[in-house]
Amino acid sequence: MKVFEKLFTQQESIPEKGIEAAVAVMRSGRLHRYNTLPGEKSETDLLEIEFADYLGVPYALACSSGGYALHIAMRAAGLQSGDKVLCNAFTLAPVPGAIHNSGGVPVLVDVADDFCIDLDDLEAKAVESGAKFFMLSHMRGHLADMDRIMDICQRHNLFLIEDCAHTMGASWNGVKSGTFGDIACFSTQTYKHINSGEGGFLTTRHADVMARAIMYSGSYMLFDHHFAGPPKEVFDQIRYDTPNYSGRMDNLRAAILRPQLANLDTQCGRWNQRYSVLESTLAACPAIDVPVRPDAETFVGSSIQFSLPGFGAEQIVQVVKHCGERGVVLKWFGNAEPADYTSRYDSWRYIQDMPKLPNTEQILATLLDIRIPLTFSEDDCQLIAEIIVDVVRECQQ
Ligand SMILES: Cc1ncc(COP(=O)(O)O)c(C=O)c1O
Repeated sequence: MKVFEKLFTQQESIPEKGIEAAVAVMRSGRLHRYNTLPGEKSETDLLEIEFADYLGVPYALACSSGGYALHIAMRAAGLQSGDKVLCNAFTLAPVPGAIHNSGGVPVLVDVADDFCIDLDDLEAKAVESGAKFFMLSHMRGHLADMDRIMDICQRHNLFLIEDCAHTMGASWNGVKSGTFGDIACFSTQTYKHINSGEGGFLTTRHADVMARAIMYSGSYMLFDHHFAGPPKEVFDQIRYDTPNYSGRMDNLRAAILRPQLANLDTQCGRWNQRYSVLESTLAACPAIDVPVRPDAETFVGSSIQFSLPGFGAEQIVQVVKHCGERGVVLKWFGNAEPADYTSRYDSWRYIQDMPKLPNTEQILATLLDIRIPLTFSEDDCQLIAEIIVDVVRECQQ
């Protein structure tokens, strides 16, 4: 019997250059982002400049986590307590959590067969709810048709916040994920595309939005020490009415992120080689459905999703169990009981007037997911795919 022995939780080590830079920060004692010598740019300053440059946007703010970036994004967008915010029903808990944290009320939108947000339901809910904010999760790296999304946003006057936790490095028709919306948020938590344990970014083209985000993030009155931020005058309009909700990035984490960012595109290529090994073996099994990715989408295959149409809940439980016994960790997004990092929408019971979403439940009922850490080789991915196919065949009988 084939068994896989590596851990699904093991990441690659931090590049030596990052370790050296982190040690230099520790030796200097200047870990706080604003603790600089005259004329010096801190590691956090440099990271922000480099991230803005990578994305091709004027403004970037590094902060303490992706969830924190989403939270202050809502506030910087001007959300008032009780305002409705459209968001994917298929996402992870930090997304509705960030909306709740900012005083917003999530309006959950169905998932479609391609695992992206359902654009017909989005439009219907935009009309029905009258929401003016839309937090779009590019969940598990799947980019919805961004041309249609932008058209819907324009027609319904929606302020778009992209949650790019899973799409750093991805693009749609050559346009980078994170440059479509009014604001984009990224995570650098360990399982994301660059790893600082915890961390995140907020990016935007709007000077006033970035000025508010910088104030919220805890800049004290050092807001003019941002080199990927707007000019000082922009802060004059907002500095007295924008509270400090401290959530800064520090120089230690910035130091380890900078060399990873410089190598991001190479890493994305390595993820995609692994993804395609898994995809081809899984898709060849008639019981397994792997969504065909649109030509317009350049995704980052740091995880793979597939479904087992026709499998009942009990069979899915068996597939997860037997794969687990052979060392292959599958996540089941349809599980009624929240487990591990995964929770179904109806477990976020703090959401007011929780809708029943039968379409979403039906799609999630057979949706399985695996992480693809770069510590796995292509041979490892082949073995994982073969184990999954064997188990699916056994459980089908
Ligand atoms: C889809 C999605 N959005 C946002 C976040 C929030 O990121 P962080 O963990 O950095 O707060 C995560 C983290 O897992 C996520 O998966």
